[in-house]
Amino acid sequence: MTSPDETSPDNDLQKTLKLYSEGKPLFTRAVLEDLDHHLEKGEKKVMIRDYLNKEHIYDLEIPDWCADSADTVRIKYNGIETLTNLHPDEDRVSWGTRTMMITYGSQYKYNDITVEKVRAAFERQRGAWKQSKTCKHFTQQFEGFTPGQVAAITKIVGFALGPVAYLDVRSADGIGPSATNALTQHMALLTIAEILKQRNGGRKVKCYTQDPVNKGVGNEFLKTIGITSLDDPKGFLEVDDKTLVVSIHPNVPVRQVIADLQYPAAMLWNTVEEPVKREWEQKTMDDGDVTWIFPYSTDPVSSRVVRMAEQYDQLPFDDADDWFGKLTWYVRKHKKDA
Ligand SMILES: C[S@@+](CC[C@H](N)C(=O)[O-])C[C@H]1O[C@@H](n2cnc3c(N)ncnc32)[C@H](O)[C@@H]1O
Repeated sequence: MTSPDETSPDNDLQKTLKLYSEGKPLFTRAVLEDLDHHLEKGEKKVMIRDYLNKEHIYDLEIPDWCADSADTVRIKYNGIETLTNLHPDEDRVSWGTRTMMITYGSQYKYNDITVEKVRAAFERQRGAWKQSKTCKHFTQQFEGFTPGQVAAITKIVGFALGPVAYLDVRSADGIGPSATNALTQHMALLTIAEILKQRNGGRKVKCYTQDPVNKGVGNEFLKTIGITSLDDPKGFLEVDDKTLVVSIHPNVPVRQVIADLQYPAAMLWNTVEEPVKREWEQKTMDDGDVTWIFPYSTDPVSSRVVRMAEQYDQLPFDDADDWFGKLTWYVRKHKKDA
């Protein structure tokens, strides 16, 4: 038996903070592998332990209560900020001590978009990429990696590189800003792979991506350009110490997951800035309802992400064309170069 006080949200929060400061990972390979296994086998339910080892059972089939609006099962990853910020009205942490959980959503429908249409957009944008200042800087920066740094990378895993098939026929170029960024970010992956191949004596580099938004026609297209799309959480499981991770404004805390699972050989991802304490903000919605907005981004920098970044040499990426946002290259420091 436990006293009410021992199970209170506040007590759980204190325990979470203590375990986190002692180094207990929020995200583990064992939980992700088990979850992946259940999804792969089409199991009906999965049990996921939370940060304090409590068991939670989730449906892996869309439950009746949301069958009208949902058609897909998603994994929700809760970073340390989500687990340790009390909701102002309710005096509790929204998701308790659950680091990983199952939620349900709806998949974007790509009506009238075919692989051929995506390819045509890709070819058009490839011309712009090849001639751009950004591509020039990008290539120069990556070519500046030492032979030892380049040899240490045998695969690339991209996260959240965006919806390649989300073409906007109403926009002037018929592609639209979301797909333009997404196509360019995938092209950058191929550019890195090409340079790695040249510099590593013709050794081919495998390219993987994980972004649920590309399910269907987007993934079919990516396959034709040599990129293998992986379902969540397989991308995380694919990362090893010889991987270059590329992650750009993800809707999930990719940096916190990777910091717990595996330090890669290198990363190109959102610049790690010292975390600052933020407060919940109130927002009045269009219908007049007032709601609280969680103050952190979807991929916040935690103390653990900062500690990880310290192990890497850093080179800010110069994105003159604004296709990527504020990114930095991180290359593992300890390798002795030939
Ligand atoms: C803000 S968008 C960024 C897209 C693109 N990188 C850009 O800069 O325009 C966030 C992306 O995260 C993706 N995402 C959501 N959940 C994800 C997951 N579990 N793994 C990888 N990507 C995910 C979304 O589908 C979406 O493409």
